[in-house]
Amino acid sequence: MNKTEWFKDWFDTEYYHLLYANRNDEEAEVFISNLCDHLKIKSGSDVLDLACGKGRHSRTLNKLGFKVTGADLSGNSIKEAILEGPSEIHYVVHDMREVIPQATFDVIFNLFTSFGYFDGLSDNARVIQSISTMLEKDGLLVIDFMNARKVIDHLVKEEVKNAGHIDFNISRRYDGKHIFKDIKFNDDDCEYHYTERVQALFKNDFEQLLDAEGLTIIHTFGNFDLEPFNEENSDRLIIIAKK
Ligand SMILES: C[S@@+](CC[C@H](N)C(=O)[O-])C[C@H]1O[C@@H](n2cnc3c(N)ncnc32)[C@H](O)[C@@H]1O
Repeated sequence: MNKTEWFKDWFDTEYYHLLYANRNDEEAEVFISNLCDHLKIKSGSDVLDLACGKGRHSRTLNKLGFKVTGADLSGNSIKEAILEGPSEIHYVVHDMREVIPQATFDVIFNLFTSFGYFDGLSDNARVIQSISTMLEKDGLLVIDFMNARKVIDHLVKEEVKNAGHIDFNISRRYDGKHIFKDIKFNDDDCEYHYTERVQALFKNDFEQLLDAEGLTIIHTFGNFDLEPFNEENSDRLIIIAKK
């Protein structure tokens, strides 16, 4: 793996979790409960939380009675997820571009803009290909991504966010293909600078990627309350695709 891939470093730091500490278990619980109810996912189904972070959605999926695997590239996040439990959840350090050996799932979740981080577009196809391989026939894929149109149209160029003992100076820009977020801060007299870079992917980009791997979009939602997707106004682009 290329050492310079930004997402390998940033998501593995304690600062990432400090900055985004407001993404909590309650938010995940309401969204996932509504979604599983709507999709009528059968109790006991095998589900994968792909790019699970510290496991906030995995824990809700477990409470709802599914057999849960949580996978993430960040070793530190997986360590914390395992510590928090419960022990029935199977957590694994894993790169989403690869297939998890000998594993198949009824539903695969990829949540909270955990896609589009790669240097090249071909890696997006590798992720969808791996997902399609791991999905059972008639299985479902849920992708929860930012609504890139709204983010670009309302780009907050500069802001300062205070979290814990740190002031994070954040600036955002769009280069026609990616949304960049520069995050600068000082801790204990050391200066830090990280850059998040996410591809600005729209609904038709996902349609093409999914179609190429035999997955068809059956629903889209525009927020965690499952209201319809509208490109101008929706906060999220939540895609449900079927194999
Ligand atoms: C925005 S966070 C979302 C985490 C989690 N889904 C949540 O909502 O709390 C993105 C996650 O993607 C993970 N990630 C980034 N690149 C990955 C890759 N190639 N394979 C697996 N996980 C990856 C990061 O480590 C991070 O935990």
